[in-house]
Amino acid sequence: MPEIFVCNASDLGEGNVKVVAVDDREIGVIRHKGQCYAYLNRCPHQGGPACEGVRMPKVEAVLNEERQFFGHRFSDTEDHIVCPWHGYEFNLDTGNCIGDAALRLKRYDVVERQDSLYVVL
Ligand code: FES
Repeated sequence: MPEIFVCNASDLGEGNVKVVAVDDREIGVIRHKGQCYAYLNRCPHQGGPACEGVRMPKVEAVLNEERQFFGHRFSDTEDHIVCPWHGYEFNLDTGNCIGDAALRLKRYDVVERQDSLYVVL
């Protein structure tokens, strides 16, 4: 499968996003907590630049053993991308939309080789 050069790996610092144009589309490569993720930079809701939204932990409900609600907390294990246009949230690992199971960001593999990052089309 073809690979598209994104940038030098050392040029994509922690928390940064690099958007590359590939033919008629944009792909956003995100470095988050040391991992690289790549998604089509087009939100499946109405086409917003989803990769350029903030990333934040999932908000979880805190329940006791009787399943009574005690408040909210941030997840230690799941992070979301929040689309900047209308706030739809997507699981950073899968691209699945949190609020609508029918929506998902298109995901691409990222390869890091010899201080270069590539997206696999
Ligand atoms: S376009 Fe992304 S939430 Fe609407």
